[in-house]
Formats: sequence, structure tokens, C-alpha cells
Amino acid sequence: MMVDGVPYRTIWLAQEGEGAGWQVEIIDQTRLPHIFETVRLTNLDDAAHAIRAMLVRGAPLIGATAAYGVALAMRADTSDDALDQACETLLATRPTAVNLGWALAEMQAHLRNRPRDQRAAAAYARAVEICDEDVAICEGIGRNGLALFEDIWTAKGQQGRLNVLTHCNAGWLATVDWGTALAPIYMAHDGGIPVHVWVDETRPRNQGAALTAWELGKHGVPHTVIVDNAGGHLMQKGEVDLCITGTDRTAANGDVCNKIGTYLKALAAHDNGVPFYVALPGPTIDWEMPDGNAIPIEERDPAEVSCIEGRLADGTTAPVQLTPDASAAANYAFDVTPARLVTALVTERGVCAASTDGLANLYNKEKNA
Ligand code: MRU
Repeated sequence: MMVDGVPYRTIWLAQEGEGAGWQVEIIDQTRLPHIFETVRLTNLDDAAHAIRAMLVRGAPLIGATAAYGVALAMRADTSDDALDQACETLLATRPTAVNLGWALAEMQAHLRNRPRDQRAAAAYARAVEICDEDVAICEGIGRNGLALFEDIWTAKGQQGRLNVLTHCNAGWLATVDWGTALAPIYMAHDGGIPVHVWVDETRPRNQGAALTAWELGKHGVPHTVIVDNAGGHLMQKGEVDLCITGTDRTAANGDVCNKIGTYLKALAAHDNGVPFYVALPGPTIDWEMPDGNAIPIEERDPAEVSCIEGRLADGTTAPVQLTPDASAAANYAFDVTPARLVTALVTERGVCAASTDGLANLYNKEKNA
């Protein structure tokens, strides 16, 4: 996607300087929306830190960064121990997005039986492929989601604007390019449908207010940031034509685990007869997880709840404390939306019911094959 006229992905191999061809560059998403800054990853620890501290985030991008993390590790040491250690370190960074484990399993399978002198090059090649595959997958999600948007726009008599509500950031910043939930939004906008997006701010880290708003703005998509609790009210007033979100892990029965607060939006959508779609790439399906109950829910630092970061009047950014010193805070980062509240899943292979049969038919029961 474009940033001020320059095409960007969220992760790429450095093209210039000493590390050209092997260092990995990312956009530091902790600095957005006020500062656009890229950072170079030069070793395994840099990659693990980037995921843990959320310089990169979003299920597909976490997977892509982990793949490059293995490549960086192989550049330093090609032994079996180094491969296992790298995968263990990266897997421990964040627990919920299954793309992380998926990408590491892909790297293990690709490298394990290779001679050591080929491992580093093979690791980079597979990491590049994983990124390119993600772009193609997200483009496919966009096309399949666009057909739904067109149907809803037609059913609305093509009057006014198409109001879409989204939660968190499931845009190009969460993937390598395009995004999952935002891919059909970009395609609809580019195709002339007057899309307007209600952007949930998504406390506590404000991925909606900081990231979704930023990337929609850069692409010229009309949008309005709302507090997380406003969605139900807007749905009651007929101001939301559809909801679409991403998912960090999709159970085999179609339950979806996404950013905290997604479940409440799905409940409100169900109560108001608003379609609630979830966009996902194949690698987000956890076929070993029969339903959402056992999905590990990340609990992050309570300071993310008690403090908030923003730009001060002098242009610098700083954290400020919101809560009393003595009050405890809890920071559950994800929740599970049961399949019964999901109108349909939008994948790169098509749109399907959020159910065991829906997913299994689409994926031919071959588990992502
Ligand atoms: O904690 P984050 O910012 O990594 O959470 C991201 C989300 O919840 C996204 O909605 C999800 O990864 C799907 S995006 C393609």
C-alpha cells in the first residue's frame, strides 16, 4: 500500500547499506500514527523483540516476522540446536496468533533435512515466499469480501454510503500487504463504492485509533474513529451496514479469537440483525483446536491499561497515567467470538459458514493444503 505516494510492505529485505540483502526492515508500529519510522532487524533477538514489544503485530505479520527471525538466526548459526532455539524463542513471544506457530513449523519443515551450508539461503527464500503468499492470500480475501460488499450495497439501493464497522487493526499493517478485514474495504473504495468506516479505537493499545485510522487515511478512505462502546448505539440507529474484523486464531468449528472487544461487537450485531463477517487467511485456522474454549488468551502488562501514550502540545509523545496509583488493572488482549455469532467467514478460498463443515469443505479437509 502507499505511504505518501511511496509503495510499502510492512516487512522487507534491506536494499541498501551494509546489511543489504540480509537485514530485515520493518515499520515500527509503536511510533504510529505520529511518527513513520522504519527499523532494521539484524539478529534473532531483534526479531523476537519486534514481535514481543509489538513493533510488528497482527497475526499474519507476526508469522512473517518469525520466518525472517529464523533466517537471521540461521545466518549466525546453522546447527539443529540453533534452529530449535530460534523457534522456541520466537514461539514464546506472543501466545494467541496461530500464524506464529504455523510459520515456525513451515521453517522447520523447510530446513530440518537440509545440509547446513544451504540452510541460511533456504531460510531467507522460504521467508520471502511466506511474505509473497500472504500478499496473494490477502488479495484473495479482498476479492471475496468485495462480492459481499457489492451485494449489501445493491440491497441498500446504492443510497448514501456503505457503513462498515471494524475493530482493532486488520489492515495492511497487520499483514504483509492489503490486510484481511480491510482488503475488501480498499477494493470497494477503489471500485467506486462510497465506503465509510467506523473505526473502534480498540483500547488499550488503540490499534484502531492509531493504526487503522492512519492507514485508511493514507489511502483516502473516509472513516470516523469511535470509542469502543459506541458500536452498539450506532447499530441500533441503523448506522452500520456490516461489521468485518480479523481473527488471530480460528478454531476448527469456526469460533474466532480476535482482539478484546470483538465478542461484544458480534453480540450487538446479532441483536440488531447486522451481518458480522470475519476475514481470515488459511494459516489462521488451527485445525487442532476443536473450538475456541482452549485458545490461549494473551495477558499483557497492566500498564497498557493504566497508562496511555499520545502526542503532547509540543509535538513530542509521552505516556500519561489514567488510573489511581492504588488501582489494579488487568489486560486481557483477546476474546473468543462463538461461531453462532459470525454471519460468514471470508477467506482467500471463498466465503463459508463459520462451522466445521463450512471450513472443511472450503479447505477440502486437507488442512490448508
Ligand atoms: O494485538 P495485535 O495488534 O497483534 O492484534 C491484532 C488483531 O487482533 C487482528 O485483528 C488480527 O491479528 C487479525 S489481522 C490480520
